[in-house]
Amino acid sequence: MILVAGGSGRLGTLLVRRLSARGLDVRVLTRDPLRAQHLAGVASEIVVGDVRERSSLRKLVEEAETVVSAVHGFPGKGRVSPASVDRDGNANLIDVAAEKGAHVVLLSVVGASRNHAMELFRAKWAAEQHLRASAAPWTVVRATAYLELWAEIMAKPIVFGRGRNPINFVSVHDVAAVVERCVLDPALRGRVLEVGGPEDLTFLGLAELLQQLRGEKGSVRHVPRLMLRAGAPFSRRASAALTMDSIDMTFDAAAARGAFADIPSTDARSALSRALTEHAG
Ligand SMILES: NC(=O)c1ccc[n+]([C@@H]2O[C@H](COP(=O)([O-])OP(=O)(O)OC[C@H]3O[C@@H](n4cnc5c(N)ncnc54)[C@H](OP(=O)(O)O)[C@@H]3O)[C@@H](O)[C@H]2O)c1
Repeated sequence: MILVAGGSGRLGTLLVRRLSARGLDVRVLTRDPLRAQHLAGVASEIVVGDVRERSSLRKLVEEAETVVSAVHGFPGKGRVSPASVDRDGNANLIDVAAEKGAHVVLLSVVGASRNHAMELFRAKWAAEQHLRASAAPWTVVRATAYLELWAEIMAKPIVFGRGRNPINFVSVHDVAAVVERCVLDPALRGRVLEVGGPEDLTFLGLAELLQQLRGEKGSVRHVPRLMLRAGAPFSRRASAALTMDSIDMTFDAAAARGAFADIPSTDARSALSRALTEHAG
């Protein structure tokens, strides 16, 4: 059995569909079964748990050969945060999986590091370290920013800050295919795989591409950096937007593709066209 924590999310849903289509037994862990109702009849089981509560995990991890962590606490409020979910919640999940001898596949971010400017990247780094020090067999998949998420965030042509910083974006479909490979291929244990898209784009470039694909005209509006700076101490999103507008977020995806060269590397135009068609349908 494969337990997918975060199975109700964007990446998790695609992964659950892929694994289930192979006839594999997939258990989705969610805090709220309503969030996973689109997977009823696809996953073998939908179970309720919270990675922040270790005691809720033991029974759910029982019988799992593989545990995938596709959770994140970035969009949360209050007790939901990168520290509580991505760092401490992942540590709980990893410890329980290690007790049961399960293989852990951890979703992380390209650029995760101890001193990163973004809390999420520091929390993912801590989770990676925890996993590598644990007794569990492991695989880490680090990905760049998901195009499909940003297409949703940029439903209106608004750019945070100057929008001229090149950033690597990847299609979540390609990441799901790599994670599926990590679940299935024991040769990838003990590896950190980095997945990105074939091109770096600025937020301005992304906004213009989205306008073209949506058949919209008009100028792209900016949330000024001054406003982001004022909001940053109180808002994780404002702080992250400011960082994404400034630091190096480029990535040479081609150089990292050795272990999964046969998996598609979808260009931004095709990935966004698919996302917009799916959204309209
Ligand atoms: N989005 C990106 O651009 C990006 C880039 C690189 C890496 N990643 C990583 O890829 C993975 C998937 O990202 P995504 O954008 O697909 O996520 P998403 O759609 O935002 O879904 C987040 C998932 O986390 C689960 N979750 C949150 N807090 C939880 C908790 N306390 N206990 C259990 N589950 C919890 C949610 O489940 P319920 O709400 O159903 O409980 C949901 O399924 C994450 O690990 C993320 O950090 C994302």
